Amino acid sequence: MKVDGTPTRTIWREPDGRAVGIIDQTKLPHRFETVRLETLEEAAHAIRAMLVRGAPLIGVTAAYGLALALRAAPSDIGLARACETLAATRPTAINLRWALDTVSTAIRDLPPERRADAAFARAGEIAEEDVEICAAIGRHGMALIEAIAARKGGEPVNVLTHCNAGWLATVDWGTATAPIYMAHDAGIPLHVWVDETRPRNQGASLTAWELSHHGVPCTLIADNTGGHLMQHGEVDIAIVGTDRVTAQGDVCNKIGTYLKALAAHDNGVPFYVALPSPTLDFAVSDGVKEIPIEERGAEEVTTMWGKTADGRIETVRIAPDGVGAANYGFDVTPARLVTGLITERGVVAATRESLATAFPERSGVLRKAG
Ligand code: MRU
Repeated sequence: MKVDGTPTRTIWREPDGRAVGIIDQTKLPHRFETVRLETLEEAAHAIRAMLVRGAPLIGVTAAYGLALALRAAPSDIGLARACETLAATRPTAINLRWALDTVSTAIRDLPPERRADAAFARAGEIAEEDVEICAAIGRHGMALIEAIAARKGGEPVNVLTHCNAGWLATVDWGTATAPIYMAHDAGIPLHVWVDETRPRNQGASLTAWELSHHGVPCTLIADNTGGHLMQHGEVDIAIVGTDRVTAQGDVCNKIGTYLKALAAHDNGVPFYVALPSPTLDFAVSDGVKEIPIEERGAEEVTTMWGKTADGRIETVRIAPDGVGAANYGFDVTPARLVTGLITERGVVAATRESLATAFPERSGVLRKAG
């Protein structure tokens, strides 16, 4: 997507080949800054401290992080250590482990001196594939928006989204936002309700930033507003992203997604989840019981970060001194609340059978049966 008219991706190999460039997303929306990652430790820090975030981008960063690590330590021990370090950065998004497995498989049988180059090449391919996948998600999801637009006869389609599953969370396009950008670019009138997404405010800081920079009409809402809007017919469709979808179609995504799905169900609002296939985890079924939920520091809840009227960037405490806080990063929406999964292979029902049929090479189910 474009930043001030310049086509921009969230991650790239620097021209000198020695580093990987990223946008420091902890500085948005108030500053646009890029950072060079040159080592395993810098890549791991970027994921852990959320300079990069969003399941697909976490995966691509981990892939490049492994390549950076292998340049310094290409032995089997170096490979194992790098995988362990990167895998420990964030526990919920399965794209991280998928990317580490994919790169490891591509380079494991090579002699050490060839591993780093091969890992950079595979990481680059994963990044390109992510762009293609998100574009395909956009085309399939746009058809859903188009159908609603046809029914509304020229009135804007109101889309609600949670957190940031935008281009900042991927390499380009985004998952939940790809249908939005494509529909907007095709001239379909639409408007997006953007959940602020406490505690880190990815909706307010990132989704509102990227949508408004692209000229997509959007309105920021406090997290608890979605149910009210749905009761009053102000939401035509909800589209969110995900960090992991299980074999039976349960959806793990940013904390608060489950409550939006419940409200959508109660009000007959279609609730769609956009995902690239690396977000599928056929090794788990019951998302509530089996997916590890990241718990982050209490200070993310007890404080707020932002710009003061005179332009200073500051963090202020909003809770009484001494009060603690719980900070669960994600929740699980059971498959029964999901209208459909927007994938690169089309819109798929959130059921074991549909997922296994759409992604037989990932599920293993049909492989065993055949
Ligand atoms: O904690 P974050 O900002 O990494 O959480 C991001 C989300 O929950 C996204 O919705 C999800 O990763 C999908 S991104 C296409």
